[in-house]
Amino acid sequence: MNIRPMTPADLPAVSELDQLSFSQPWPDAAFAAELANPNARNWVAELDGRVVGALVLWRVLDEAHIATIATHPGFRQRGIGQTLLKTGMDAAYAEGARIYHLEVRAGNLAAIHMYEKFGYQVVGRRIKYYKNNGEDALLMTLTC
Ligand SMILES: CC(C)(COP(=O)(O)OP(=O)(O)OC[C@H]1O[C@@H](n2cnc3c(N)ncnc32)[C@H](O)[C@@H]1OP(=O)(O)O)[C@@H](O)C(=O)NCCC(=O)NCCS
Repeated sequence: MNIRPMTPADLPAVSELDQLSFSQPWPDAAFAAELANPNARNWVAELDGRVVGALVLWRVLDEAHIATIATHPGFRQRGIGQTLLKTGMDAAYAEGARIYHLEVRAGNLAAIHMYEKFGYQVVGRRIKYYKNNGEDALLMTLTC
């Protein structure tokens, strides 16, 4: 597996992956906008030439926000998500990030377990944050 920065050529595969992974996927133009966002660090995981994972992380000063991360449903539980997250966090650390935060659906146990494995802790809850089903968001933070 190869983790590398996302390029415009990856956008169709990344959008497909996003639609397969989320009940509220990002709009089509969103990933293209992130490629033009100076604060965004955009990564993909590639396996045999195929994009199987994607991560968007925003870094501002000493803070990093995990904006989105997904592994293609056919390639989950093989270490791709954690390798992507570690690569993105290590790169953000090298740029000065020391506080990492994110929001995750309260019922998304796979993602919550992944973040806890990295040491993230739940620090807050936004009640009925997700509009499509009224699910709460957990706020998770890690300080390095
Ligand atoms: C969350 C997600 C990115 C994890 O990707 P993945 O490639 O399957 O994850 P990995 O194989 O690297 O697993 C890393 C850790 O995550 C946790 N994990 C992953 N899948 C899990 C599952 N089905 N149940 C419980 N824990 C799980 C485990 O702690 C695992 O570590 P372990 O293998 O030592 O037990 C993936 O499930 C996904 O794309 N989900 C849909 C999109 C999403 O919810 N993104 C997060 C938004 S906040």
